Amino acid sequence: MEQLRLAVIAGDGIGPEVTTEARKAIRAAVDGVEVVETEYALGAAHYLESGEILEDATIDALRSHDAILLGAVGGDPSDPRLAGGIIERGLLLKLRFAFDHHVNLRPTKLHPKVQSPLREPGDIDFVVVREGTEGPYVGNGGAIRVGTPHEVANETSVNTAFGVERVVRFAFDLAEQRSKRVTLVHKTNVLVHAGGLWRRTVDAVAAEHPDVAVDYLHIDAATIFLVDRPSRFDVIVTDNLFGDIITDLAGAVGGGIGMAASGNLDPSGAHPSMFEPVHGSAPDIAGTGAADPTAAILSAALLLEHTGQAEAAERIRAAVDADVDARGDARRTTSEVGDAIAERIRASKEHA
Ligand code: NAD
Ligand code: IPM
Ligand code: MN
Repeated sequence: MEQLRLAVIAGDGIGPEVTTEARKAIRAAVDGVEVVETEYALGAAHYLESGEILEDATIDALRSHDAILLGAVGGDPSDPRLAGGIIERGLLLKLRFAFDHHVNLRPTKLHPKVQSPLREPGDIDFVVVREGTEGPYVGNGGAIRVGTPHEVANETSVNTAFGVERVVRFAFDLAEQRSKRVTLVHKTNVLVHAGGLWRRTVDAVAAEHPDVAVDYLHIDAATIFLVDRPSRFDVIVTDNLFGDIITDLAGAVGGGIGMAASGNLDPSGAHPSMFEPVHGSAPDIAGTGAADPTAAILSAALLLEHTGQAEAAERIRAAVDADVDARGDARRTTSEVGDAIAERIRASKEHA
């Protein structure tokens, strides 16, 4: 039987809680495929216990999998031992860079039965294509005279023609399969060097896609439209940092951060792609059973789609839709939601 070799990094806080439910969904959804799951104990808690953040040998081991399912990593931000994003940078970003996850795909689709915080949400169905391996995330910065009144602190945003072009091309190809609209979001009125590169690249790629409508918004104005008229968006392409910020906003307007899925893709297939909810480890609700596992479950659907299991991915999405349709006011725990969705997936397979 065909195998799907999955690496699972459950991580910290609600990470393990929601990942458990995503794994149930994957196991229920696949057909004729043996899912081989290998757990990697990584994250803030593991670091505090063992001193390991991410060894090169672990990266090599992860490389041998078809895909990585990640919950969330990061501990108590007030813990001095975790200061400076040591886990986020040393683990999450290190994996994105090591596996060349240059497309960070973050879809938002408001289900008709889900309450959006917007008064008139309209038809919300867009995808943010966030660049994943450049921008200020590369760590190309530094500081001098730290702690003195003359401190200078720099973070450099790195934007390469190669890196921008490949993610812009991905966005246009995606738009071709959707509603054929691409919006570049940047800050070209201030960040002129990077902004110029992004604009010229979008213009050049747009010339090859005459059927795709292209527009541009400054990041500040984009946040207005995401709240005022999110239905105007189809594919948004943007850099790493702007993409980080607007996808939390997108999650919120799309019915809650607990429903926002993401994929860190290396579309070339040379490295395993990594799928994770947009949200973090949510220490404020960890251990309470209040975490919504839907984002993790929909990330599992992205994972299956990306690993050639489109039907299984569709089963998960249909089961999530049906579960959302049936949601009343009664509060359910993380595992109750996950069990209900897994049950629907199994039932849909039996009745197929
Ligand atoms: P967060 O996303 O963890 O939480 C923000 C708010 O959203 C909190 O009130 C939380 O309770 C709520 N929330 C998040 N996920 C939810 C869910 N599934 N269901 C219901 N409510 C949910 O963001 P934060 O508080 O800024 O970060 C906490 C930690 O997670 C930090 O250490 C941060 O660096 C890390 N982080 C990790 C990732 C990742 O691993 N991919 C992503 C973002 C943040
Ligand atoms: C995300 C997170 C990460 C990011 C952090 C934890 C490094 O916020 O996945 O959105 O900024 O990319
Ligand atoms: Mn984020």
